[in-house]
Amino acid sequence: MRPPRLPHAIRTGGLMAALALAGTAALADGDKHAPRVPLLPQYQQECASCHVAYPPGMLPAASWRRIVQGLPQHYGTDASLDAATLQQLSVWLNANAGTGRRVREAPPEDRITRSAWFVREHDEVSPATWKRPAVKSAANCAACHTRADQGEFRERDIRIPR
Ligand code: HEC
Ligand code: HEC
Repeated sequence: MRPPRLPHAIRTGGLMAALALAGTAALADGDKHAPRVPLLPQYQQECASCHVAYPPGMLPAASWRRIVQGLPQHYGTDASLDAATLQQLSVWLNANAGTGRRVREAPPEDRITRSAWFVREHDEVSPATWKRPAVKSAANCAACHTRADQGEFRERDIRIPR
């Protein structure tokens, strides 16, 4: 099967398809407005109960691999899954991991929050703000990014809790 080309997608009225392709291009560039990758239902189910479902494009494949392999000791908690689910998540995360310049290198502890781009984007957030009871941790994206659960991190959707 030939990969769909953009003009064809537009001709056939496939606006969503065209947008999806444009999104993929942005991801390849490591754009901070990483496209919203439709989440695998298993990912949504298993990886969004303790925190938001982090967009797969925010970490490189190597980081996701270690995270999936280390779920029994996951940042101080047990997030174990059965082998079949692990396998599905591995394949999907590997296929959707970030490839752009900003996410090429695995950050310390495979944390999005320790990535250089993350630190830069948040340099105006004061240490006191991170410690507010409603925030507690930088990993708690949804405390400030009101649409984080939908993979949206744009400035206009940010509300810092008091
Ligand atoms: C039982 C609860 C739980 C489940 C289920 C869980 N996590 Fe986590 N996860 C945590 C905790 C706790 C942290 C550390 C949060 C912090 O530092 O504030 C964390 C942190 C992370 C981080 C690093 C966040 C950062 O600091 O940038 C990633 C990435 C992550 N989890 C991915 C996953 C994936 C993928 C899954 C599904 C396979 C998953 N988590 C399921 C509890 C969980
Ligand atoms: C304490 C509140 C807070 C938390 C928690 C937080 N952010 Fe942010 N985030 C901000 C602020 C403030 C900015 C800067 C907006 C600006 O440029 O004016 C920002 C910017 C961003 C940007 C760039 C947005 C843009 O359009 O320029 C991204 C992407 C982002 N954050 C992702 C995350 C992710 C992913 C998490 C969780 C792992 C997270 N943030 C946690 C407050 C927060």
